Amino acid sequence: MSVNHPSFGQLADGRVIIFDTTLRDGEQSPGFSMNLAEKLRMAEALTELGVDVIEAGFPIASPGDFDSVKAIAELYANKGPVVAGLCRHDRRDILSAAEALKPAARPRIHIVIATSPLHMRVKLRMTPDEVLQSVIDHVSLARHHAEDVEWSAEDGSRSEADFLCRCVEAAIKHGATTINIPDTVGYALPEEIEAMFSMLRTRVPGAEKVVFSAHNHNDLGLAVANTIAALRGGARQIECTVNGIGERAGNAALEEIVMAIRTRPDQVNCKPAVITENILKTSKLLAAITGFDVQPNKAIVGRNAFAHESGIHQDGVLKDASTYEIMTPESVGWSNSSLVMGKHSGRAAFRDKLRALGYGEIGDNQLNDAFRRFKDVADRKKVVFDEDISALVDDEVLRANDRIRFVSLDVHAGSKRPASAELELEIDGTVTTATATGDGPVDAAFIAIRKLFAHDATLQLYSVGAVTEGTDAQARVTVRLEEAGKMVDGQGADTDTIVASVRAYVHALNKLLVKRARTAPPAALSA
Ligand code: KIV
Ligand code: ZN
Repeated sequence: MSVNHPSFGQLADGRVIIFDTTLRDGEQSPGFSMNLAEKLRMAEALTELGVDVIEAGFPIASPGDFDSVKAIAELYANKGPVVAGLCRHDRRDILSAAEALKPAARPRIHIVIATSPLHMRVKLRMTPDEVLQSVIDHVSLARHHAEDVEWSAEDGSRSEADFLCRCVEAAIKHGATTINIPDTVGYALPEEIEAMFSMLRTRVPGAEKVVFSAHNHNDLGLAVANTIAALRGGARQIECTVNGIGERAGNAALEEIVMAIRTRPDQVNCKPAVITENILKTSKLLAAITGFDVQPNKAIVGRNAFAHESGIHQDGVLKDASTYEIMTPESVGWSNSSLVMGKHSGRAAFRDKLRALGYGEIGDNQLNDAFRRFKDVADRKKVVFDEDISALVDDEVLRANDRIRFVSLDVHAGSKRPASAELELEIDGTVTTATATGDGPVDAAFIAIRKLFAHDATLQLYSVGAVTEGTDAQARVTVRLEEAGKMVDGQGADTDTIVASVRAYVHALNKLLVKRARTAPPAALSA
């Protein structure tokens, strides 16, 4: 297949474009909002990972979204990945995206409208002819503002083949350069996806001029399988997110697709330009920013993905790793570190350990903050496990841009008198103190937070777990807050459960502040 794409030139045989939508579809899912600094940090990590396109957001959705798309476009004003901004079929959306993307060296306007009978009738209240006309009008408008235009058929996999062909033909004719057919609700099976892409490529006039793209949701756990099937059907762009985050059950996971392609070149003849050794640190960065860890058995990036427990497996791996490992842990960024950390470990050993844990290079200030907390933990715990270090790095280093920061806490608890807490927080750069009594030390500390930073959010969930085993283990606390229908989860870790609780509450509050700055677009996209 030879396609001449405005952003990628002549696509070599087997070249596959990785379109990352962690910052748009991923960020759109409940609890995953990121602030501007976090989005920029993620964008840099995605670039180091080698993705081709970063979907930076949905500019019309809110001033915050507009600003972050613009800031990412500015980051890539001279070189770097293509920066895409999502729009509905609406003139204001397209103009807003064009404006936000203006600084980018390689901007892409991505426009979407639903094409399935159900979505057209119930959601859009438009006839198929009206939708077709809208494709003509809005692709033309987008093309007027950008050379690189992606058109998406929302709920494409549940659309009627003839109508889908007509829409795709119109989109190509009026200037779309990438045609994306999402399985928006994660309904399709791999054979259907492969057949759909093959059908479009053979039936639609002009299909040879564009790149076909797959965008699969994971409602039936098939997003990655469907993406591989799309490649077999001739798709040359795949849309995915780090750790598979996204609406409902998520999107296809970037790390799983890339490693499936790399591990089975005999079955999938494609070449993504991803630097696989950077996968783990990107995954960890996202987990730390959002506060959502991947499950231990998550393929590629889960803590157990390369762990061998059974004697038979261990014996096999010791004789020859390929007996039970289909890819090397190093190829995705895991590295063996024999460094045991304790209170005598120095800064250099700590930096090495962070690298081995997949955190890559972190700045001197952040290293100092993390090192200070590590020493504090090491003073209180006999053995500092890798999990302890991950917990404190996630907790401390990545909160650098938060408006509210924990400073100190002193609590008095017991059975003789009401518990009391004296809490110091730094709010927008100013340190303030409050004292409160409550029904137990956690309650007292949370009341003190409310005194220092008044808010209406209600506590929906409070849960405590241990990072490792033993009575000196760090506690990892999750706090869920709800305010005016907006839900956020915060995480905090510390050897002191009450301190971990305050850190988790403060983390959730900071996330709520990011959410407050946003207003939902009038007719939000379903995925
Ligand atoms: O799932 C979907 O249909 C989408 C589109 C906006 C591409 O996310
Ligand atoms: Zn989606």
